[in-house]
Amino acid sequence: MKIKIPYQDKITLGYSLARSAGFAAQQLSLPLFEFITTGRRKPSQFEPQRMRAAYTELFNLLKKDSENIAKGIYPVEVLKPEKVAHHFLRYPRIIYDGYAISKRRSDKDARDFSEEAENFLKDLPEYYQRNFHFQTGGYLTRESAELYEHQVEILFSGSADAMRRLIIPLAKEALPGDGTGMHFLEVGAGTGRLTRFMKLAYPKAKITVLDLSYPYLKKAQDNLHEFDRLDFVQGAAEELPFQDGMFDLVYSCFMFHELPHEIRRKVVAEGHRVLRSGGCYGLVDSLQKDDARDFEWALEQFPVDFHEPFYKNYTQNPMEGLLNAAGFTNLRKDQGFFAKALLARKPAE
Ligand SMILES: C[S@@+](CC[C@H](N)C(=O)[O-])C[C@H]1O[C@@H](n2cnc3c(N)ncnc32)[C@H](O)[C@@H]1O
Repeated sequence: MKIKIPYQDKITLGYSLARSAGFAAQQLSLPLFEFITTGRRKPSQFEPQRMRAAYTELFNLLKKDSENIAKGIYPVEVLKPEKVAHHFLRYPRIIYDGYAISKRRSDKDARDFSEEAENFLKDLPEYYQRNFHFQTGGYLTRESAELYEHQVEILFSGSADAMRRLIIPLAKEALPGDGTGMHFLEVGAGTGRLTRFMKLAYPKAKITVLDLSYPYLKKAQDNLHEFDRLDFVQGAAEELPFQDGMFDLVYSCFMFHELPHEIRRKVVAEGHRVLRSGGCYGLVDSLQKDDARDFEWALEQFPVDFHEPFYKNYTQNPMEGLLNAAGFTNLRKDQGFFAKALLARKPAE
């Protein structure tokens, strides 16, 4: 029996706000460390009006997330924190990596790979052989996989998890229940953060977790060891090694903005192919042009600050159009802070 906790949404919102403040403080500290180490000072984008609008959106996202927990759309376990010691022991490594990132940014060097990363490069698509975000190792080292989730939360002031979860209410509306008998495919799953939330929302679903990066997939496997009915496949979302019509839901998070336009189109077409008729296609990714006027400055600034060569083209080509062109219908949308979620259906035959 589920026990109803009084003021649960307020308690979870308080927790999420405190968590967000912790990550925002870490974000604010990074330029200071960069200045101390390199003497370089980045021009600030933090105009008060922009910041007010951004923090209002951030608050609204965390509030909606807390309400979704209170409504039982996903359980409160999605907020379970990691061990405090793990968190703070990682922070010095993130500061050090922040220094390496700023050096790569100032050298405009997005092809800087260690021997460990070089070993993976030859089997990977050309568009992927780079240090996305100027991060050390690109997606191709164990250390990069260790730091990744924490770095993303710092970048988004502790809102990344709540943005990832935007897809769950849309999925639950289209595919209700605990996932019994359902088979999902997550592409570009990275270290498995959204996989965790999907498993908590759909404990009985089988989820196939796919990513191009071996080290990230390995980290996902470690992160998700307590769950059953998961399998892990290294592969490309545009050339899926699966038969037609196998899945009830295919989805991704924060992947499309890192793909060239033609690959984006192929990924959606492949998703359509492997879905059963009546199955659903979902995604969470960055806002695009016209999604939110208050964030247009951020859409322009993001690829200036981070190595994101396909991002500008992504913002100009709405994912809604790609889903419609691939034959999906019943498009549903939600958005919060810097992200939007889309879910559409492959028509039943
Ligand atoms: C920004 S990360 C997002 C990871 C994860 N979904 C999350 O929510 O944090 C992008 C991920 O997509 C993966 N990726 C990029 N292109 C891919 C492709 N063509 N096929 C499969 N995975 C891909 C990368 O290896 C990386 O793990």
